[in-house]
Amino acid sequence: MSEQVRRPAGTGTAVADPVLDVTDVAKVFRVAKGPSGNDRLRALDGVSLTLGRGETLGLVGESGCGKSTLARVLMMLEKPDGGTVRFDGTDPFGLRGAALLAFRRRVQMVFQDPFASLNSRMTAAEIIAEPWLTHRDMYPSRRDRAARVRELLHLVGLRPSDGEKYPQEFSGGQRQRLGIARALALDPDVIVLDEPVSALDLSVQAQVLNLLNDLQERLGVSYVFISHDLSVVRHVADRVAVMYLGKIVETGSTEQVFAHPRHPYTAALMSSAPSLDPAAARTKILLQGEIPSPLDPPSGCRFRTRCWQATDHCATAVPPLAPAPLEPDHLAACHYPLEALS
Ligand SMILES: Nc1ncnc2c1ncn2[C@@H]1O[C@H](COP(=O)(O)OP(=O)(O)O)[C@@H](O)[C@H]1O
Ligand code: SF4
Ligand SMILES: [Mg+2]
Repeated sequence: MSEQVRRPAGTGTAVADPVLDVTDVAKVFRVAKGPSGNDRLRALDGVSLTLGRGETLGLVGESGCGKSTLARVLMMLEKPDGGTVRFDGTDPFGLRGAALLAFRRRVQMVFQDPFASLNSRMTAAEIIAEPWLTHRDMYPSRRDRAARVRELLHLVGLRPSDGEKYPQEFSGGQRQRLGIARALALDPDVIVLDEPVSALDLSVQAQVLNLLNDLQERLGVSYVFISHDLSVVRHVADRVAVMYLGKIVETGSTEQVFAHPRHPYTAALMSSAPSLDPAAARTKILLQGEIPSPLDPPSGCRFRTRCWQATDHCATAVPPLAPAPLEPDHLAACHYPLEALS
């Protein structure tokens, strides 16, 4: 495997040895006609990103911007209508049979609502062991399966006796731990976490985030961590990608993006997020208006209807994702990116 740092087309963000490489992915849904007569909803429009091994990429944006659609593409639950997805250089959509099954093992998912995603008629132990019914070669003996279930319960901070309980006997945080144990059962390389702590109380959120960080350190697993909440992403992500109406509008290291957001949308999201550090509180920028329908997105820059900097040029020219002058890995899709705060 090459250790060379490379820069995939479209993102410009350097990731050594990426486990996941998404280039120019589009996803179009056929829906009822909108006011303009359009019935093709572009949920993803030219999305490119990379995920390094053992890295966490935070994917942020308001509801409806395409985060879950991207998650479903990465899980191979939706086929993209354009662009490519590569895991370790392989396009999983080209795989069939045993190769496809082996591949599916490598990417697992944790959902927002652990209750809805766990079968209430199965015990925790049965839930964790269920993926091995499909992947029979992993733990062929009953004894190995039982031992591995105990290990996984321990790994996520549950007790061995919790294996006998049903999901409804757990608290929200414990259920999410169970969801994480199930995702880990197949030893994945990548876990896609779609709003994994959004349904939890703040104190429980912190425990689950710490568990995820701890597991990553121990196991080297990579995460795509999806949230509408920038302040949550800040605690877990090495790099951040900000989405708006199906496009990535800013990407960079967590440090770069939080120290000085370049895209007005990122700045607005950041200023609306509660800050734990009052000294760091920024001037509040209120996002004007509603998110436009993705069925009829604004021409030019999609953010222009809510942007306080918009000019006539923004209405006609689509801004490309372009690097900051002194930070080649910090990209923003804006004709007039914000200057770094001095
Ligand atoms: N199966 C589908 N059919 C039609 N439209 C869909 C489908 N899935 C998602 N969408 C639309 O795609 C857009 C992105 O949705 P989604 O990926 O769920 O956003 P997010 O997870 O960021 O809230 C939304 O406008 C949503 O209504
Ligand atoms: S391109 Fe124009 S409308 Fe879009 S974010 Fe930049 S300044 Fe605002
Ligand atoms: Mg979603």
